[in-house]
Amino acid sequence: MVDDWSKPITVQEMYGDWDYEAAVELLDRSLNPRPSKAIFDTVEALGIGPGDTVLDIGGRDGGHGLLMAERFGCRVVSVDPAPANIADGLKRVAEHEHGESVEIKHGVIEDIPAGDNAFDLVFSRDMLNHVANQDRGLAECVRVLKPGGAMLVHEVFETDLMEPREAARLYADLATVPEMMAPGGFEQRAKNAGFAIESIDVVGSEWYEASQEAGIAPNYMMQISRLRRAKDELLAELGEVAYRTMLGNAMWSIYLFIGKLETRLYVLRLAA
Ligand SMILES: C[S@@+](CC[C@H](N)C(=O)[O-])C[C@H]1O[C@@H](n2cnc3c(N)ncnc32)[C@H](O)[C@@H]1O
Repeated sequence: MVDDWSKPITVQEMYGDWDYEAAVELLDRSLNPRPSKAIFDTVEALGIGPGDTVLDIGGRDGGHGLLMAERFGCRVVSVDPAPANIADGLKRVAEHEHGESVEIKHGVIEDIPAGDNAFDLVFSRDMLNHVANQDRGLAECVRVLKPGGAMLVHEVFETDLMEPREAARLYADLATVPEMMAPGGFEQRAKNAGFAIESIDVVGSEWYEASQEAGIAPNYMMQISRLRRAKDELLAELGEVAYRTMLGNAMWSIYLFIGKLETRLYVLRLAA
């Protein structure tokens, strides 16, 4: 990492014998980052297909549930606590060709609205760091999974480049529980709940690189600059929650790009 160099660069070295244009050209080359939809290749590798039932916990508006129903022919129950997400999900499912395979339910991971051994897979994408009582949430996932079932967790974690003061500000803007941001803590809680860790894929900033390359991501830097420069006007127009969420979300993306946050994809497995 750049941050690990111990010897400062001198002025002579910095303006010395290296080719700036060649370096820019080199950095223009794609590293072929995996896009976010690559998560569904992992679902496929887990063997999900017709006859299987997936729980999308924190499933927002059922969008990922519909993608999985369409691609794998499985049934999906999408559970989310936010009334606006439930309303959007019910509408989306009603209008979708594969909507009959997706059930939208109101609920939380700490008290999953489903019976024991109901699911072949729990799909958890970017929701666990909202959950203060993760022990309880993971125990509920164990309860609703069939023996031998898997839980796929995509989550953002803090790296040792993150400084405490900036972390506190960022997490407060995004309803994120600071104590849930360390990967080691998560791994221990998963094991305590009864899961074995089958694989860990450090995705890092790949999804974000891919969406920048595809030209489908907002210009987060510009958003931050405008939110800061026109704070009073934008606060008045957006209101505090929207202002802070937009700022936090854009900052979150930048922290991912600069390695203070990283995403990881875990496959957790229950004993058969
Ligand atoms: C960042 S969004 C991710 C949504 C979706 N999984 C995705 O990847 O696009 C986080 C979601 O977690 C949900 N959530 C927050 N706390 C939750 C809880 N205790 N149990 C279940 N879902 C929760 C929120 O309502 C929100 O839809």
